[in-house]
Amino acid sequence: MTRVLVLNGPNLGRLGKREPHIYGSVTYAELKEHLEGTGEGLGLSVEVRQTDFEGEMVQWLHEAADSGAAVVLNPAAWTHYSVAIADAVAQVPTVIEVHISNVHAREEFRRHSVVSPYVKGVIAGLGLGGYDLALAHLAATS
Ligand code: DQA
Repeated sequence: MTRVLVLNGPNLGRLGKREPHIYGSVTYAELKEHLEGTGEGLGLSVEVRQTDFEGEMVQWLHEAADSGAAVVLNPAAWTHYSVAIADAVAQVPTVIEVHISNVHAREEFRRHSVVSPYVKGVIAGLGLGGYDLALAHLAATS
């Protein structure tokens, strides 16, 4: 069974409370439960995690690189500036970058991703459904 880590960066643990006009009212706990169910339906082994600590995210990406797990990654704010996250992503063969909001329709600084050059594809602006689409792609191609 294909193993998938769905990794979420800083402030995403506050989904549901955080700027609901941008990120919606579904909580992180609800998203986690939903995606684990989606994974089951698709025949994937899905584990959903969130951290506000950059080093912890780097270690999770190393874990994926060493174990061969695919990654669905919302790097959140790290998207825009973290070379440490980009370097770790570059070591993982299959990463799909997901953003809940359309980062290209927001502030200028959100338009650039230092992570995107190292990922298979990017989904942005489709709300939480972007995570489901990423999992469906992994199920169809694994
Ligand atoms: C985000 C977009 C980022 O610019 C922001 O820093 C986030 C969330 C998104 O999912 O839309 O925290 O990655």
